Amino acid sequence: MDRLLGALRAAGEPTRLRILGLLNQGELTVTELTHILRQSQPRVSRHLRLLCDADLLDRFREGAWVFYRLSDRDDAQALVTTIAELIPEEDPEFSRDLERLAEVRARRAAEAADYFSRHAPEWDRMRSLYVPEEQVEATLLSLAKQQRPQRLLDIGTGTGRILEVFSPHIRRGLGIDLSAEMLTVARNNLAQKRLGHCQVRLGDMYDIPADRASQDTVVLHQVLHFADDPSLAIREAARVLRPGGTCLIVDFAPHEKEFLREEHAHRRLGFSDEEINGLGEAAGLAPTAVEHLDGGELTVTIWRLDQPGVDNKTLLEAAE
Ligand SMILES: C[S@@+](CC[C@H](N)C(=O)[O-])C[C@H]1O[C@@H](n2cnc3c(N)ncnc32)[C@H](O)[C@@H]1O
Repeated sequence: MDRLLGALRAAGEPTRLRILGLLNQGELTVTELTHILRQSQPRVSRHLRLLCDADLLDRFREGAWVFYRLSDRDDAQALVTTIAELIPEEDPEFSRDLERLAEVRARRAAEAADYFSRHAPEWDRMRSLYVPEEQVEATLLSLAKQQRPQRLLDIGTGTGRILEVFSPHIRRGLGIDLSAEMLTVARNNLAQKRLGHCQVRLGDMYDIPADRASQDTVVLHQVLHFADDPSLAIREAARVLRPGGTCLIVDFAPHEKEFLREEHAHRRLGFSDEEINGLGEAAGLAPTAVEHLDGGELTVTIWRLDQPGVDNKTLLEAAE
């Protein structure tokens, strides 16, 4: 009762309600919120601190930037989303906030478009070498759905595409990537598609910012060929997987396209089934499926590796 009263008290103030309404549209930095709300940074920061203290918001730092988002803790999420959804968009002050939010987003989108236009020719060339992405995504989804994932971690999320593909089937999605530019694009995509249950964070595949056994499914989609230590990346993926969870790796079968090293920074020219399955087994994972998607100059392979054991949650679900 005390926590609920505290949360309602924290939300019960005009600027704080506007903040909840804005963050319901996606994550924002303090600087962006200050610009939208037209209030001084110390004032905005004080409101944000009160909302965080009442567990209505989550805060995280990425380099020099501090981001805020609506809390996704199980006990707070329903309350905070309900309050945020009730804020009338036609309220004069809030509708001006939403206009300024649209400006902030347009600026971010322009930055993202600039980044993409600088890289688009290389990516187009790359994509032309293998089967259409839709085919890869459909196969990946069908392999994962057998496990009915609730919490999904996408390692090397890039633009957040894999989170988007899985979003209708999961309760929570987390994408990590080393590139802040990619994360800006991913945040824009997730906000535009209103995928509030998916979020992205700066993070390294060798030191994943997630707890042991905290994820049902982990995906590495076209990431492992950048790794100078694929074995460590798979061990980290195994660490965060719950017993009975699934690791899905999508990459190329062995090939000889040296230009991918020179022009695309690939370290590895594909992986054999023996290598990935062996690395999985060394990390304690059991290889359970392999799909080869031929139909281009490069073969795309999807490996499924399962964490042995079934935890209590899965047993309970199975009993229901
Ligand atoms: C080819 S993109 C694939 C993006 C996404 N998985 C997809 O398929 O749409 C590879 C991504 O891996 C990221 N990456 C490379 N090394 C990484 C590392 N050590 N930790 C996390 N991400 C990394 C890159 O920044 C890039 O966004």
